[in-house]
Amino acid sequence: MPKVLVIYAHPETAKGSSTHELYKHFINSYIEKNPDDEIIVHNVSEYMPFPLNKIAVSIYNKNLAKTALNADEARFNDSRQQWIDEFVNADKYVFVNPMYNLFLPAEMKSYIDMIMQAHDTFHYDKDGNSVGDLHHKKVIHLQTSGGNYHDSNSNPDSKIQDLADQYLCMMLHLMGVDDYTSVFAEGMDHDPLHAIEILDNAYNNAEKAGKEF
Ligand SMILES: Cc1cc2nc3c(=O)[nH]c(=O)nc-3n(C[C@H](O)[C@H](O)[C@H](O)COP(=O)(O)O)c2cc1C
Repeated sequence: MPKVLVIYAHPETAKGSSTHELYKHFINSYIEKNPDDEIIVHNVSEYMPFPLNKIAVSIYNKNLAKTALNADEARFNDSRQQWIDEFVNADKYVFVNPMYNLFLPAEMKSYIDMIMQAHDTFHYDKDGNSVGDLHHKKVIHLQTSGGNYHDSNSNPDSKIQDLADQYLCMMLHLMGVDDYTSVFAEGMDHDPLHAIEILDNAYNNAEKAGKEF
C-alpha cells in the first residue's frame, strides 16, 4: 500500500485558510482515486520536535568526529530517527504551505533540516559530491501567496522571488527526488476583486493534480 506523507505548515487549519482549502481539494480528489493509500499528516507548525538546535548541532559534530553521544543526545537522535525513517519509507510527499516573506514557513525549513541527513537521504561519493538516495518518489508542492510569482502576466523576475518553491525543489533534488510538481494559489491579496476567481481556478488545478498524483 503506497504511503503518502503530508508535510503541512500553517498555524491554523480552520475554515477560511486558503492553504487549507487548496490542500483539501487536492487530498480529497487524491483519496477518491486512491482510497487504499496510507496518508500520514504532520502539521509542523503545530509540532516539530527536532529543530536544528544546540543538541542537534552537537550530534552533527560528534558524528563527524565519530565520538560517542551523551544520554540526552542519544535519546534525541533515536526519536528523530523515527521521523527520518518515516520520510525515507514514504512513496509520495505533499508539501503544503503559505508563502511567508518569500520563503517557506520556518517550521517547514526546520523539517527539511531534519531530513537532510547524510546516510539516510543522501551520501557523499568518493569525490565528495553529494548523491541523492531517494529514488522512485514523487512530490507535489501546494503553496498559497498574496502576490503573483508564476502567472504568465507577472514580471519575469517575480518567479525568482519565490525562494520557497525553488528551495524545496532543490533540496528534494539533492535527495534524489526529481518528480516534482507545484500547484499555486496566488495573487489574492494583490488583486482582491478577483480573489474568488483565482482561488476557484487554483482549487480546480489542485483537484486535477490530486487525480494525477
Ligand atoms: C507573516 C506573513 C508573511 C507573508 N509573506 C508573503 C510574501 O512574502 N509574499 C506573498 O505573496 N504573500 C505573503 N503573505 C501572504 C500569504 O502568503 C497569503 O495571504 C496566503 O494566502 C495565506 O494563506 P491562508 O489564507 O491559508 O492563511 C504573507 C502572510 C503573512 C501572514
